[in-house]
Amino acid sequence: MPETPLVLGLETSCDETGVGIVRGTRLLADAVASSVPEHVRFGGVVPEIASRAHLEVMVPTIERACAEAGVRLSDLDAVAVTAGPGLAGALMVGVAAAKALAIGLGVPLYGVNHLGAHVAVDVVEHGPLPEPTLALLVSGGHSSLLLVPDVTTDVRLLGATIDDAAGEAFDKVARLLGLPFPGGPHIDRVARDGDAQAIDFPRGLTSGRDLHRHSLDFSFSGLKTSVARWVQARESAGSPVPVADVAASFQEAVVDVLTRKAVAACRREGVPDLLIGGGVAANSRLRALAQHRCDEAGVRLRVPRPGLCNDNGAMVAALGSLMVQAGRSPSALDLPADSSQPVQQVQV
Ligand code: KG4
Ligand code: ZN
Repeated sequence: MPETPLVLGLETSCDETGVGIVRGTRLLADAVASSVPEHVRFGGVVPEIASRAHLEVMVPTIERACAEAGVRLSDLDAVAVTAGPGLAGALMVGVAAAKALAIGLGVPLYGVNHLGAHVAVDVVEHGPLPEPTLALLVSGGHSSLLLVPDVTTDVRLLGATIDDAAGEAFDKVARLLGLPFPGGPHIDRVARDGDAQAIDFPRGLTSGRDLHRHSLDFSFSGLKTSVARWVQARESAGSPVPVADVAASFQEAVVDVLTRKAVAACRREGVPDLLIGGGVAANSRLRALAQHRCDEAGVRLRVPRPGLCNDNGAMVAALGSLMVQAGRSPSALDLPADSSQPVQQVQV
């Protein structure tokens, strides 16, 4: 195996078909085909539609990635794929495609964890990960604080959401405000014209007994309900809803808790490096407040550029490549797709 292996990564855990190609940790291609437009009218991802879309675009997206990277499939040294967690049917399309490639090309196959890949992707932008790194992962399906001594083998869960994921809260509140799906980017945009201090929405699990019992956990379901009640009260009184102020105040409540707990985790674990990943890490206010609080606390912050925060194949290729370079054994060719793969299981 060459020192800087050429690795192709496939991502199909939700609504993005991602094909990334790296050489070592250098990103050569990041082709993404999204089925979001097909889900918009349902206001959420429809699993069957996502699976079918993966199937339809898989081969053309692989071809596009190879063209972008200027490589042929026969040049590949290894194939990596998201084995879980995610939508079962969607994962299966990627896993089947990766097995076909690995068997056809006679190269090793690495079935990896989607969340680990969200962490690993930052190596293509900011170089090797400090060991350990503290990671805040915020996406449509997850909000977790992770201690990552070694992203290829050792990922530990420090805290997680006890109800809705951060991205889910963004999407639900956006819907309530009449903004399109997926709501995160729309709230981010609308909030720029709003006053983040206009409404004092609750910060879940940040005080008293809740904080004591769930010091590094999150809860966003009470916040969502509180926003819904506030909007309803306005509507029943016949007053207009100040959408920008609601969006900004809601966003502030989410990112306040996320950044506070992430910095607290760094302190508790004595880790001076924080990485934020996952779709919600594209949020402009989260990035700004995290930078501010990390500067204050003497924590170094790494956040991949927004395009690498959303689901993509580059993150899977990056984690696969790190595994190859670390000399990890490949996965078995009959590896399953595991919709509820625990975050600690970096490789299947
Ligand atoms: O990581 P990701 O692409 O897919 C999952 O693994 O879930 O994350 C998607 C989530 C969605 O909930 C979307 O609304 C949210 O990330 N998101 C954002 C922003 N961009 C995407 N949330 C807040 N602000 C953004 N700019
Ligand atoms: Zn994701």
